[in-house]
Amino acid sequence: MHYYKCLLTWITIHLVVPFDINFGSCTQYPAHQDNQANVGQAIAIDPNGYIAYCPCMGRWGNQADQFLGSLSFSRGLNRTLILPPWVEYPEWSPGTSVQIPFDKYIRVQPLSQYHRVITMETFMSNLAATVWPPNKRIGFCFYYRENKQCAMKEGNPFGPFWNHFEIQFKSYVEYGNRIGGGNAYYSFNEHVRSAWNQNFPAEKYPVMAFSGPPGDFPVKAHDRLLHKYVKWSKFISGKVKTFIKDSLDKQRFVAIHLRMGSDWKSACQHLKDHEAKNYMESPQCYGDNNVKPIPYKVCYPSENDIFRQTKRIARKYNVTNVFIATDESSVRDRLEQKFKKEQIRIVSLNPPEPHVELAIIGRAEHAIVNCISSFSGFAKRERDAKNKPTTFWSIK
Ligand SMILES: *[C@@H]1O[C@H](CO)[C@@H](O)[C@H](O)[C@H]1NC(C)=O
Ligand SMILES: *[C@@H]1O[C@H](CO)[C@@H](O)[C@H](O)[C@H]1NC(C)=O
Repeated sequence: MHYYKCLLTWITIHLVVPFDINFGSCTQYPAHQDNQANVGQAIAIDPNGYIAYCPCMGRWGNQADQFLGSLSFSRGLNRTLILPPWVEYPEWSPGTSVQIPFDKYIRVQPLSQYHRVITMETFMSNLAATVWPPNKRIGFCFYYRENKQCAMKEGNPFGPFWNHFEIQFKSYVEYGNRIGGGNAYYSFNEHVRSAWNQNFPAEKYPVMAFSGPPGDFPVKAHDRLLHKYVKWSKFISGKVKTFIKDSLDKQRFVAIHLRMGSDWKSACQHLKDHEAKNYMESPQCYGDNNVKPIPYKVCYPSENDIFRQTKRIARKYNVTNVFIATDESSVRDRLEQKFKKEQIRIVSLNPPEPHVELAIIGRAEHAIVNCISSFSGFAKRERDAKNKPTTFWSIK
């Protein structure tokens, strides 16, 4: 099967690329099923070049947040965005990471309505040998570590990410001070754009390979709107459909996201120790220019608040099912007991699957989520894009 696809790729690339390339190894990187349609089709080369990056900061919530800024950045520079695999950190193997093809979770086609994109697996299998031969593989670092070296592949997930595609960098560039520091990713600004193009023209730098996402965290308000192009894959939406049919009897429901685990509790402690006006995803409810300290309970709501808010919303929408996604099962168990008296059923996904749970939250009549959590942020953006109402814990 692999040999067959490889041969098809070989033929199509030879038809569109007029010069001789060594396809001796013809490496195929495992792609997700939704992506297989690409293999065997001719893929045009973008003369403006490409942008690649490692989603090397945080887990799904952060990666999906910074993806939007990176997408916007690529469009501003008019380079094709190479969709990186998602980085996951398996519990069974601390200190390592695995690369999950982008399109396992998110569809490629809707993104291309906004800008040209290609999955990293497809790029590396079909185009890299032509567009990005080993002697053109230059790594991009904002600043060199300790002013000395890029160290782009040092540590986890940095090393495993590029090694997954057998990418070695021939050399590195430091771009932060050449482009304008904190504004480097505002590629819609003409000065910023021309600084990029003058310093790193596509002929010499066909692929800008960034050590981290070329986008802000948290995502800026204008880029948040790009979430409307982010659609769950068939793999995820199929599971959602099954869950809504089997566990919710196709009834209307409201959803809540409770980030309550012990790691989260210590993260929230920051708000007790400092008068923080911005913390993680907080601009999603306080805006980019918040002036008041964020109350602790917004990050870590009391169970009383959770009960009261959930009950109010369930009554308002006249539903008997509340879907709950949480990292703390004891909270769920206590809520379940309390809500029994109210004739309200607490429903959850067993075993938990974070992406499926998020997608279920996206379908609820109303959702209550955590203002500080980037996982919640995904739900909020998806629901905004569908004009569905969302509120936050402990914020009026
Ligand atoms: C962006 O790149 C595409 C494809 O290379 C090209 O067709 C288009 O004209 C470019 N747009 C601008 C504004 O340069
Ligand atoms: C609430 O839903 C029930 C069925 O679940 C229905 O019988 C009742 O009329 C609804 N009440 C309102 C106010 O919509």
